[in-house]
Amino acid sequence: MKSSEGKYTTIHYQKYLKIKELLEAQQLRSVQLGTPAHEEMLFIIVHQVYELWFKQIIHEVESVIEFFADNEVIESSLSVAIGRLNRVEKILKLMVEQIGIMETMTPLDFLDFRNYLFPASGFQSFQFRQIECLLGLPEDQRLTYFGQKYSSVFDEEQQQILDDIYKKGTLLDTVNAWLERTPFLTLDGFDFLKEYRKSVNNMLDKETEAIMASEYLSDKQKKMRKEMAGNTNTYFKAILNEEAHNQLVQEDKKRLSYKATVAALFINLYREEPILQLPFQFITCLIDIDNQMTTWRYRHAQMVLRMIGNKIGTGGSSGHEYLSKTAQKHQIFTDFHGISSLLIPRSELPKLPKGIRAQLNFHFNTTHS
Ligand code: HEM
Repeated sequence: MKSSEGKYTTIHYQKYLKIKELLEAQQLRSVQLGTPAHEEMLFIIVHQVYELWFKQIIHEVESVIEFFADNEVIESSLSVAIGRLNRVEKILKLMVEQIGIMETMTPLDFLDFRNYLFPASGFQSFQFRQIECLLGLPEDQRLTYFGQKYSSVFDEEQQQILDDIYKKGTLLDTVNAWLERTPFLTLDGFDFLKEYRKSVNNMLDKETEAIMASEYLSDKQKKMRKEMAGNTNTYFKAILNEEAHNQLVQEDKKRLSYKATVAALFINLYREEPILQLPFQFITCLIDIDNQMTTWRYRHAQMVLRMIGNKIGTGGSSGHEYLSKTAQKHQIFTDFHGISSLLIPRSELPKLPKGIRAQLNFHFNTTHS
């Protein structure tokens, strides 16, 4: 192969992949301290493999954020972004599987060297924190332990890198901005929200009518069902009222802006229109990534329970209790899950005017002034 200067260049497998350095990086503390523990090799290698996958995930997510940094996302970039996020999801799936390998070590075997690890802990995995930040886990919504900031275990330079991710814009931020720019919502006199509102009301009226007309329900049951239908109505309250939505954002119950949420809803409802298929796949990738991260958190927490029971972690947290809480609280793209509550049957979907359907079949880009 010729280099850019026109010279022939070759490389050896070992040198290219730095195999020597890689294989020298497993230094067992138990051996250094004179009490070799067989299982420590597995413990180190599994962690190192994770760190390598973390590096690949960061590489992919950073590149996707780059695509969205411009005020324009063309279809080809969107399809490359989907390919890369799909890869991230596959890696996360493998990470979940890998926990099974760690679990081949028994709790008693772990105790042979656990004491040598204090205060080392997964808390100090800088790359794991980078991933969380890049995806967009809001800083002020993280669980803390003993009131310490999650980044306090890192040096100043690393803390700066994490802060900069938020300043530059996370995947969640850039996706929010991209959705806000989508031009579908008020095309050529078609006001999506107005039509959607009518459809929702229509659907809820039909539901209530059907309840009241049923010969199989007692008056008491009818009353109860009617109240339940009323509760369903509350799902729609925020999407039909910008102020209610903004209030939820204030209360940290929603993360996407109102406009972005409406755009995501539109994409979900009309996903079969050719131009919306890629945006829909993209949103699906984000949900899949969140699901896999959450599954990893649960699996890791379960493994920790099995290994150390309810002991505190080497990093000083409550261990299993803390970790299982993060599985619930540290989800990121929850607003996209919330869209499912806002879907309405195809039969109720506002019909798109012909002109708009035609536009949704043509090439467009999302630049919107
Ligand atoms: C015997 C195996 C393991 C045990 C007993 C264990 C235990 C723990 C505990 C107790 C914590 C909570 C923090 C603390 O107080 O130390 C934690 C956090 C963490 N561990 Fe593990 N762990 C194990 C394997 C792994 C592996 C293989 C990885 C892969 C990199 C990993 C990554 C992490 C990360 C990233 C955190 C921080 C999670 C968060 O704050 O949300 N752990 N681990």
